[in-house]
Amino acid sequence: MPTLHWLTRDEDIGAAARAPYRLLEEAPELSAGDAAADNMLIHGDNLEALKALLPFYAGRVKCIYIDPPYNTRSAFAHYDDNLEHAQWLATMWPRLELLRDLLADDGSIWVQLDDNEAHYARVVLDELMGRRNFVADITWKKSYAVRSNSEFVSTSTEHIFWYCKDRNRHMPNKLPRSDIQTSRFTNPDNDPRGPWQSITFTISLLSGARGRQYARTGTSPNLYEVTSPAGLAINPPPGRCWARAKPVFEEFDADGRLWWGPKKNRTPRLKMFLSEAEQGVLPTTLWADGDEYGFNQDGVRELRALGIAFPTPKPERLIQRILHIATDPGDLVLDSFLGSGTTAAVAHKMGRRWIGVEMGEHAVTHCAPRLKKVIEGEQGGISGAVGWKGGGGFRFHRLGPPAFDAEGRIRPDVAFPVLAAHVWFAETGRPWTAPAEPTPFLGAHGGRGYALLYNGVLRDRSAGGGNVLTRRALAAVRAAAGGFDGPMVVYAARSAFRDATLKAEGLTFRQTPYDVTARA
Ligand SMILES: C[S@@+](CC[C@H](N)C(=O)[O-])C[C@H]1O[C@@H](n2cnc3c(N)ncnc32)[C@H](O)[C@@H]1O
Repeated sequence: MPTLHWLTRDEDIGAAARAPYRLLEEAPELSAGDAAADNMLIHGDNLEALKALLPFYAGRVKCIYIDPPYNTRSAFAHYDDNLEHAQWLATMWPRLELLRDLLADDGSIWVQLDDNEAHYARVVLDELMGRRNFVADITWKKSYAVRSNSEFVSTSTEHIFWYCKDRNRHMPNKLPRSDIQTSRFTNPDNDPRGPWQSITFTISLLSGARGRQYARTGTSPNLYEVTSPAGLAINPPPGRCWARAKPVFEEFDADGRLWWGPKKNRTPRLKMFLSEAEQGVLPTTLWADGDEYGFNQDGVRELRALGIAFPTPKPERLIQRILHIATDPGDLVLDSFLGSGTTAAVAHKMGRRWIGVEMGEHAVTHCAPRLKKVIEGEQGGISGAVGWKGGGGFRFHRLGPPAFDAEGRIRPDVAFPVLAAHVWFAETGRPWTAPAEPTPFLGAHGGRGYALLYNGVLRDRSAGGGNVLTRRALAAVRAAAGGFDGPMVVYAARSAFRDATLKAEGLTFRQTPYDVTARA
């Protein structure tokens, strides 16, 4: 498969693996609302933030939307958007790699860019996500005005790349029918079934199974002459046949489902009634209607109404459409270039869980206050459309120190559930779900059990006692494992067993911290 090369590519491909696992530390003074809510606002560089999320959220995020710096050569008030071209790719590669790993098998990632880097990102995304998982390059119309001071052309569109994690698992929702789409249904013949829209009643004879049959036999059951109500003999246009065989045509005609034009002498078309049409419509790749998708100016206005100034916010309606297609209530949404917090605000109002990461100080000055207002029932943006009344909450986090120090030692403040998550993720590649009460048996995966003796999980306060694999500790692990009696990997500071005993017991001993960091 053709791939994109740049100066530091080989080094950049290893950057995500080299990034340290940092701890996430809550700042309760910046958190808001219901403390039990799952939503997280993280202040810090997203490379390390995404790495910190991995042991807990790998494969769990239903929709990722990102609107990274476009590399427009500008210095915006809140962030710099002027990287050397290869440096931009170097920044994006490891982050996109981590984002892919966080995505659920039935999830999707939406990446918004302009022409500065979009075509390069598309090639990188093809490589990381798999070309067959490309769904669409949506063209979003960002403004209606012509910028007369542009050099050659006034750019009015941006790209939104939509990729799924696995084409066979992706089940996107349809969009609600827009007012414009509904207005295309009319009722010129006062049909008692209500408004309708006519669609073609012919199909090509040159493609598909019908085409092959036609090529072989020179005929088709759908090639027949019909007579219009005005008495005109009508045949399908050249190269086409009727959409259905004659008996079905006759049934449709008798039921008044064919439209022959106002003078009843045109090629018949099929009436599709609004009352019988599917509620949802497939999204198209052109999002140009400001009422439906918003323009950049709407995003700026929405923020201004909240007393917040930010140079490049997206309109809430745009994100609402994406989340409508890609998620259902309760699903987890992630934006790792959060900016002013639009994705989190929209996800919150739509009843989705969310994680937002923002590196700039505006995580504190813009995102946190905006989301606090949302919790209090802010009525701008999409609030009216979704009936938002307020509620919920989020926890504000900062990136703490690395979980392992330069010598590979576990930091003393690493709690049992954090190390358990790292051990479990390193061994299984699956995210960790902490039980209500910590137990030394972490679970079984692929026929193997995993256990961790650390930080007094056995409530053994003797020197190193609870962290050493002894007969007593093993008995406690087996008791915690319930009925599981398969082979087991045990992480502990030391083992009191000889190799032969470990083998006889079906145990593999791994030493903390060295074996954890070696795998992390
Ligand atoms: C175009 S803005 C996003 C705007 C956002 N969609 C909104 O509606 O407000 C890009 C954001 O990404 C942030 N950013 C850039 N690099 C980052 C990084 N490495 N980690 C976290 N955030 C980053 C910038 O500070 C900026 O706020």
